Amino acid sequence: MKRRLAPAKVNLCLHVTGLRSDGYHLLDSLVCFADFGDYVSLTPAAETVLTVTGPRAEGVPTDGRNLILKAHEFFGEAPEVAIELEKNLPAASGIGGGSADAAATLRLLSDLTGRPVVENTARLGADIPVCLQDNAVRMQGVGEVLTPIVGLPQMDAILVNPLKGVSTPEVFKALVHKKNAPMSHCPQGGSLSEFLNWLDQQRNDLEPIAKELVPEIEDVLDSLSAAALARMSGSGATCFGIYADRPSATKAAAKIAADHPGWWVQQVRLN
Ligand code: C5P
Repeated sequence: MKRRLAPAKVNLCLHVTGLRSDGYHLLDSLVCFADFGDYVSLTPAAETVLTVTGPRAEGVPTDGRNLILKAHEFFGEAPEVAIELEKNLPAASGIGGGSADAAATLRLLSDLTGRPVVENTARLGADIPVCLQDNAVRMQGVGEVLTPIVGLPQMDAILVNPLKGVSTPEVFKALVHKKNAPMSHCPQGGSLSEFLNWLDQQRNDLEPIAKELVPEIEDVLDSLSAAALARMSGSGATCFGIYADRPSATKAAAKIAADHPGWWVQQVRLN
């Protein structure tokens, strides 16, 4: 049996810089990863089946609609495997989820067969190439142009989701301004406060639209008001708050979870 963490990805900022003729948007985003996520395990078997366990398993499809089975197909001549997904991340929440699971599946199949992960994984989903990364990257193009970012500070953070799913195509469709300024030059190797000063000047261009579609996002951001920086990730609805240190993050997470028992609240370390 082979098992891998499929970590949550967090868009620390996400600028929409243009529109491609096929309707996909050009992005400029700084993406990092949490030390928390789903787990995917593969065991050689007579036929390929997917089972889903874990706290956020409800409603996750186990048939061909699941990106894990699409990734298995996409790998090409993949061996038959029993796949178990431990679902810890909320679905349709802007932190990778299905794409992280698919990327973990591709890497496990690569380990199992000794064959490299196939190319052009963006065809499987725009977020798959970034989810195949281990460390922070600048993501451009429609998600396929990746530049490693070295020296990003470790960040104590909380992820908060009001458990309202957001449809990514719907958010992109409702976007009015599609040609915004790209990210400014990202400092590498500086202190946390220098980095946060820079990050505060960047944006998530999808945040205003997602807030219109899911008004609870505003409440989530309000709950993170004590953070050094709070913002929405991806197309939402998950927001992250970055804190000066771990005890501050722990204290804030406990308060938000107590005040909002219906929300998903997870303390993480981002890097
Ligand atoms: O590629 P994926 O299926 O993950 O993308 C979901 C949807 O998000 C696309 O159908 C498209 O509407 C939107 N999208 C976009 N520009 C991107 C990535 C996604 O418009 N760069």
